[in-house]
Amino acid sequence: MMRESRTSFLKWCGVALLLPLTAVAQPETDANQVKFPKQFETWAATQTQSESEDMLAHYPASIILWAGSSFAKEYRSPRGHQFAVADVSRTLRTGTAVPAGEKGLSASCWTCKTPDAPRLMKEMGVEGFSDANFVDLGQEIKSVVYCSDCHIDGSAKLALPRPHAQDAMAKVHLPFEKQSSAMQGAQTCGQCHVTYYFQPERKNKVNIPWIFGNTADDIEKYYDTRRFYEWIHPISKTPILKARHPEFEHWSRSKHAEVNVTCVTCHMPAATDAKGNEYTDHQVGNSLQHFDTACAGCHESQAELTSTLDKHKKDIDAKARKVEDLLVKAHYEAKAAWDAGATWPMMNDAIMGIRHAQWRWDFAMASHGLYAHNPQEGHALLDKAIEQVTDARNVLKFVAGHIGASEPQYPDISTKEAAHKAIGFVESDAQKAKDAFIKQEIEKHWDPIASTGY
Ligand code: HEC
Ligand code: HEC
Ligand code: HEC
Ligand code: HEC
Repeated sequence: MMRESRTSFLKWCGVALLLPLTAVAQPETDANQVKFPKQFETWAATQTQSESEDMLAHYPASIILWAGSSFAKEYRSPRGHQFAVADVSRTLRTGTAVPAGEKGLSASCWTCKTPDAPRLMKEMGVEGFSDANFVDLGQEIKSVVYCSDCHIDGSAKLALPRPHAQDAMAKVHLPFEKQSSAMQGAQTCGQCHVTYYFQPERKNKVNIPWIFGNTADDIEKYYDTRRFYEWIHPISKTPILKARHPEFEHWSRSKHAEVNVTCVTCHMPAATDAKGNEYTDHQVGNSLQHFDTACAGCHESQAELTSTLDKHKKDIDAKARKVEDLLVKAHYEAKAAWDAGATWPMMNDAIMGIRHAQWRWDFAMASHGLYAHNPQEGHALLDKAIEQVTDARNVLKFVAGHIGASEPQYPDISTKEAAHKAIGFVESDAQKAKDAFIKQEIEKHWDPIASTGY
């Protein structure tokens, strides 16, 4: 019963019901629980949002686009905050312990899962933290997205404990202290629901690339100027850029932001307790189930809103699939050209076209809820990506003709298994190694929150 998904439960009943909670991550004597029982109870209730989808199975083409990176191994849709520590610990993306003497994955991966991250940054220094290994700090992680991630601990006052978020807002000249209270609320979410990269010259510390602004164009300019890339694509040799959940960026340019409707309005609306006192519902999750409290002030019909959202989702999804198809072809066409002896001067424009198109596709694709937050920008990003990858393919066609390249071989990517095979990744082997690590390390030595939901 406990593990029943709240969302699927809602689909059956059509009403909001809170399931009883038996296990919460914090100890029962938590001072915040005593002082703010409703906020605590609703915060803990994200544990009922246990559903998550296997995105690589839904869109196997993304395995090809992310080939050469850990994203191609496992990528799931987000679920309730209570699972954040367990999910990052157990995904194939974060792998297993690294052999002694090797560097391994940065502890920066903990940054947006737990208040222990800003605590450790204080203790170790920001770069001391990011220079540490992800697995080595596993035993230090004892709580999951918690009160102190958004509040001065023990109070209702909002706070922004993550240095990367403070730095980013300084870059756009809107420091936290100068923000309206509505913006401060959204900003607490924007610490984590924002795009970032690990800064190689600063020991992999988390950095938000907003020097020129926070649109896809601005961020691309920043990366291009710095000649930055996350990895070299093994098929096409493209220096790849990776977007990560830019929900804050997309929302900030939306019609809702213009009228001061924030993440908090929709995902944490006001609720009333048994005594009639108002409080903020801390069960961050599906917003439409709060239609009456979150949307009805401005929108008349829930049915109409739902059908508008469904339509936006369908249209954006269809366009994203089209971009993926074109990008996969482009990666293999580039490979055929390289194999036939193409040179960088011949290939430069095409490779940059692939880089820029894939960046825009990812900036749309990685933004969870884009169809609800800013569908107009979603369409604009994908339209531009289609243009860029089409241009790139035209150049590749010309190059191929010029050097007499053979026909590109497009692999079968109709399923996740087929696409994994195409990039030479054996999921069962990776899973076996991960399972052993979970048994020997996580389940023996880490806090139980690293096992929530498993
Ligand atoms: C993800 C960010 C986030 C987390 C985590 C969080 N809060 Fe909040 N909290 C907010 C926001 C945003 C508001 C609304 C502020 C506003 O709009 O005035 C709020 C409001 C409050 C208030 C003011 C009264 C009310 O209900 O509006 C209290 C008290 C509070 N939170 C306590 C807690 C406690 C206790 C926890 C941990 C169990 C917690 N919060 C976790 C973001 C968060
Ligand atoms: C400390 C980082 C952090 C903060 C702060 C944070 N989130 Fe999240 N959020 C996450 C992570 C990580 C996940 C994915 C958890 C998983 O899938 O295991 C997530 C998941 C979600 C989901 C998906 C829930 C579901 O059931 O599908 C929503 C919606 C969401 N967050 C909204 C918000 C909003 C709104 C705020 C601000 C009030 C916020 N988050 C603040 C890190 C954060
Ligand atoms: C106008 C209301 C509205 C605003 C403002 C809003 N959201 Fe959403 N959000 C939605 C809707 C609608 C969805 C689609 C799913 C649902 O019904 O919650 C969604 C989806 C999401 C998801 C994906 C959930 C999943 O499981 O796939 C995340 C994460 C999220 N929002 C975070 C945020 C953050 C962070 C902000 C602020 C920067 C924000 N939202 C602002 C309405 C809103
Ligand atoms: C304070 C007022 C306000 C609230 C509250 C509000 N919205 Fe909106 N919403 C707007 C405005 C303004 C627009 C833009 C209307 C337009 O462009 O004609 C809009 C537009 C939309 C659209 C249409 C987008 C499009 O391009 O077709 C959707 C979908 C939507 N809102 C969803 C929601 C959801 C879901 C909630 C509650 C979770 C919500 N809104 C809460 C003011 C609000």
